[in-house]
Amino acid sequence: MSTVWIRFGDKRDYPIVVNPGVLTEVGALAQKQVRGKTACLISHPRIYRWYGNPVERSLKKAGFQVQPILVPEGEATKSMQQAEKIIGRMIAKRADRSSCLIALGGGVVGDLAGFVAATYMRGIEFIQIPTTLLAQVDSSVGGKVAVNHTLGKNLIGAFLQPRLVVTDPKVLKTLTARQFRSGLAEMIKAAIIADAKFFRQLEKDMPGIMALDMNLLSKAIIKSCSIKGAVVEKDETERGLRAILNYGHTFGHALETYHHYQGYTHGEAVSIGMVMAAHLAAQLGICKQETVKRQVSLLYQAKLPIRGKREKVAKIWEHMKTDKKVLAGENNFILTPYIGHARIMKKIPSFSVHRVLETIMGGA
Ligand SMILES: NC(=O)c1ccc[n+]([C@@H]2O[C@H](COP(=O)([O-])OP(=O)(O)OC[C@H]3O[C@@H](n4cnc5c(N)ncnc54)[C@H](O)[C@@H]3O)[C@@H](O)[C@H]2O)c1
Ligand SMILES: [Zn+2]
Repeated sequence: MSTVWIRFGDKRDYPIVVNPGVLTEVGALAQKQVRGKTACLISHPRIYRWYGNPVERSLKKAGFQVQPILVPEGEATKSMQQAEKIIGRMIAKRADRSSCLIALGGGVVGDLAGFVAATYMRGIEFIQIPTTLLAQVDSSVGGKVAVNHTLGKNLIGAFLQPRLVVTDPKVLKTLTARQFRSGLAEMIKAAIIADAKFFRQLEKDMPGIMALDMNLLSKAIIKSCSIKGAVVEKDETERGLRAILNYGHTFGHALETYHHYQGYTHGEAVSIGMVMAAHLAAQLGICKQETVKRQVSLLYQAKLPIRGKREKVAKIWEHMKTDKKVLAGENNFILTPYIGHARIMKKIPSFSVHRVLETIMGGA
């Protein structure tokens, strides 16, 4: 069993346990990490049907009372209305301050359940069982929880570190190839910004990872979690360093918003965003062409898109200008001088950004 500890040097330290088949051990692991013996399990009907049983059985075996609460699939579920519904069910079931909340699902369930855990009776303990690759390598780590507002994504949220993350790579066998690739983009991002050795490993292991080799996949998930964990330990609430995790995201978010979150998965948008960030760095003389080439080829190997579909560049630029990271910091961008390192760069000239947009996204 492999464990990454996220350490804040206080009682919030928690383990991320990664192991194929670990779903059956959730109870024993939870017993060590939470105080109470009642748990509300938030999931989607389909995910619960597939993976609810082993989780519930294991929790009950460890003495937990379990109350499943099921919510519809899709981004629209990350809403205040849905959070209120869950809270209503928890009150009806007499969940109290010693109860814990468990998220069994992808980033949507994790963010929503986490938001409820952060606010129910001013905060209860929270456990993540991420079931998409994106959730396993990214959203379940780091303690950002949120719901969406009609005016924007993740606008209502909190920082709440889970007490435990239980990651079973076996559940990824039922994930669509497209969703799986979306998670790969975040994994590649982690390597680009922080770990050249991991990047080399991914260049070598990508075919095996994509064929769901459990050993290679587990190793890559652990590495991604430890990279994100190390950043979060240093800057939990994104006052500085944590922003490097947004590599490729300023471009990516603009693309996602422009397409109303329909055209691209998050990972696909971030993949194109990273290609643009890489080109921007090269254009500004911050990195060598070789650094761009390696990023693009690894993304291509992972079957991620490396350019836009003849997008309307002027519209995307409009969306970018509303991004708080561009706006407040006068064109702040996360750029990579070489693989394994990222820097927050200020005052990037708009015409350079525009040129990259035209090259990678343009055509329409
Ligand atoms: N909190 C953070 O730090 C953070 C970071 C990145 C993304 N996010 C958020 O995460 C969300 C996206 O997460 P996501 O990509 O996991 O999407 P998601 O949770 O919507 O999952 C995608 C789809 O896959 C299904 N699914 C989940 N597990 C499955 C499995 N094992 N087999 C088959 N299908 C499965 C889901 O039901 C859903 O239909 C967004 O709301 C985003 O804002 C949060
Ligand atoms: Zn992301």
